[in-house]
Amino acid sequence: MTETDLSHARAVRIERFGGPEVIDLADVAVPAPGAGALLVRTAFASVNPVDWKIAEGKYPPLGKDKLPIVLGRDLSGTVVAVGAGADAQIGDRVCAFIDTDRGAQSTLVILKPGEAVAVPEGVSFEDAGAVPLAAMTAWQGLFDHGGLEAGQSVLIHGGAGGVGHIAVQLAKWKGARVIATASAKDLDFVRSLGADQVVDYKAERFEDVAHDLDMVYDTQGGETQDRSFGVLRKGGILVSTLDPDAAKAEAMGVRTVPRWHASPDAAALRQVIDLMAAGTVKVTIAKAFPLDAIHDAQAFAQHEHPRGKVILTVAPD
Ligand SMILES: NC(=O)c1ccc[n+]([C@@H]2O[C@H](COP(=O)([O-])OP(=O)(O)OC[C@H]3O[C@@H](n4cnc5c(N)ncnc54)[C@H](OP(=O)(O)O)[C@@H]3O)[C@@H](O)[C@H]2O)c1
Repeated sequence: MTETDLSHARAVRIERFGGPEVIDLADVAVPAPGAGALLVRTAFASVNPVDWKIAEGKYPPLGKDKLPIVLGRDLSGTVVAVGAGADAQIGDRVCAFIDTDRGAQSTLVILKPGEAVAVPEGVSFEDAGAVPLAAMTAWQGLFDHGGLEAGQSVLIHGGAGGVGHIAVQLAKWKGARVIATASAKDLDFVRSLGADQVVDYKAERFEDVAHDLDMVYDTQGGETQDRSFGVLRKGGILVSTLDPDAAKAEAMGVRTVPRWHASPDAAALRQVIDLMAAGTVKVTIAKAFPLDAIHDAQAFAQHEHPRGKVILTVAPD
């Protein structure tokens, strides 16, 4: 494999399910891009909780029959080859949220027709590679599933996290009133994102400050979700990035959305990238690790309570 060899890539791969020990770097074959598809040399790929859930065999869409699996769902990079009729050119700067049939933590990645979003001047490759999955999770949860509108109120749990820090900004952009929970060390950060009110979830009960809300955006599940139904107005909605308790929602006279997984949506991602170019949405990157340090990157993201996103530096220009 050389810099100019486009038929092989170095990728973060699992051949079986388990802990960090199953994650390895492997040389993988890369197909030539088919009609309308692009081959991208990855600059930055993002690290997400779904990576270790997949590795542990705890992500239902990817069962044993899908092994071996290359990890990673989102990236930025430069187009190095194009399929017939593709609407991009070699050298274009793009980012994408890709389906689970490929992995983004790889030096070369195929983008299917319609997946790539141009990265404009004014948006860094780092930010463009960090944000697609988190932004689509925030967007789809708040707007597509939750129907958040201007003038409504929303409680966002985990406002300093990868998803939460984007959700706070998107909800404010929409014109909602935002209450967000975070740890004490992150309260000023979450305020700086535009949150109208912040709650130190370890020191205060969010129920003491949040009442009659239109929406809860839950990134925590468990006890946090359980206590959240009570802060909604009758008919309000709880949208969870994890498992929502539909029976509890019904009993409390509120709504919820069945379990969903964020999915690629280039049109929505393009809007987020435009908001980033305009300075309306700012991405926070806690730390970048080289691709070879994937174990350190995952351990940091999983255990060190980073603010915002963790990314892998793959092959920056
Ligand atoms: N359904 C989907 O498609 C989808 C997509 C993306 C993510 N997810 C899931 O959504 C969750 C969040 O993802 P992420 O990428 O944002 O993770 P993350 O970057 O690890 O953020 C989680 C945040 O939650 C905070 N937190 C921890 N305990 C909390 C509590 N009790 N109350 C309020 N905040 C708390 C953490 O801060 P401190 O620990 O520092 O306090 C951290 O800032 C993960 O479980 C992920 O798997 C689902």
